[in-house]
Amino acid sequence: MNTLTEFKEIDPYLPVDLDVFHVGSQLAFDLYLKDGATMKQALVRGTWFNAPLREGFLNKGVSKLYIKADDKALFDRYYRQVSLLKESQKDRSFSFREYSYLKDRFLQINADLLIEGTEITFSLYNLCKITFSPVVEASVSAPVRLTAGMIADAGCDVLIKDKEIHLYQEYLAETLRARSGRNAAKKQRKVSILREHAKIVLKEILDDPLSSLKYSTVESLAGDLTAEILQNEHVVHHLIAVRRHDFYSYVHSFNTAVLAAGLAAHIGLDRNAVHRILTGMMLHDVGKRTIPPYVLHKLGNLTDTEYALYKQHVVASGALLEKEKKVPKEALTIALQHHERLNGKGYPYKLSGAAISMQGRIAAIADAFDALTTPRPHKYPLSPFYALQLLAREAVYYDKDLLASFIKMLGDVE
Ligand SMILES: [Fe+2]
Ligand SMILES: [Fe+2]
Repeated sequence: MNTLTEFKEIDPYLPVDLDVFHVGSQLAFDLYLKDGATMKQALVRGTWFNAPLREGFLNKGVSKLYIKADDKALFDRYYRQVSLLKESQKDRSFSFREYSYLKDRFLQINADLLIEGTEITFSLYNLCKITFSPVVEASVSAPVRLTAGMIADAGCDVLIKDKEIHLYQEYLAETLRARSGRNAAKKQRKVSILREHAKIVLKEILDDPLSSLKYSTVESLAGDLTAEILQNEHVVHHLIAVRRHDFYSYVHSFNTAVLAAGLAAHIGLDRNAVHRILTGMMLHDVGKRTIPPYVLHKLGNLTDTEYALYKQHVVASGALLEKEKKVPKEALTIALQHHERLNGKGYPYKLSGAAISMQGRIAAIADAFDALTTPRPHKYPLSPFYALQLLAREAVYYDKDLLASFIKMLGDVE
């Protein structure tokens, strides 16, 4: 555990789970082991990673290796290749087109809310990298009692079909009613359920280019979340600490909203200001629903043309929010400025310095932090600690004081 105080020097090593390394693959970078406070070179670039090497690490109790931060791009290329290789070796592998299609038709759920011994009427699926597989098949006429094995974390996301979301919501309401338990645990569960409801609403808005923005619903959910955050800042940790394995626009929208609101509360903004920031951040990427899925879900780097297309989501978000009369100015500013950078290197307007509002600056920090720490099939995520260091190193992009408060708010992170 590290305490974040000041960042003069950035940690030159990045931790990577041993499981990532594929037996039979060639390393395109050096690997290091942590020995107390020092780093020791373990394997050199060009080494073929084989079973005895893996065994050796396991026998020594090593579960994490380190790469040089400068090798991150080489590592991400390796990671993408081995991820796809692992997928192609499985029986039920789906093509990318299927992955992209299915991903939009499933909701990623918080498996911690599923309780052993209770009955479900909806089916569960796993998404591991780009492979979907059924875990439990259940229905209203054939409910299934959950066992520990069904809800064990297999290192994958747990998903349900969009069509069965209402059954999941009924299940959540029922378990909240039925569970007694200690107050603290019950309260935590209530907040987690609030998160699931917000994700569901955001997914509907982000998936369907023709749906209304459901502005009043979003605003009211944001009000409930604001109350929780103002009551207890630690709720922020709880809300963003759910394990995830892939990127979902609705999860990103929710997480960035909570992070931005946490920061706003931390610097002492009043309830209304926090509420407006939370609402605006939930909808900041709504313009993404106008961007083709093959660009949004692409595995690997975007081409220049695709990136230009992707960047249009900002103006699209602005246009959608402007149409909605009830949207406050701050929410619109958040949508329009979340990719602007203090030194003028952002987009779409290349604003700099004082031209970027406080809300825009808060949005930029929350957005960048969530993007850096979220796993994707082609990108290994940075640890929160390292992501904060990276943001601090790129201080020309972000508001220094806000960043310092953000780091304080997140406190001790690994
Ligand atoms: Fe964005
Ligand atoms: Fe975003």
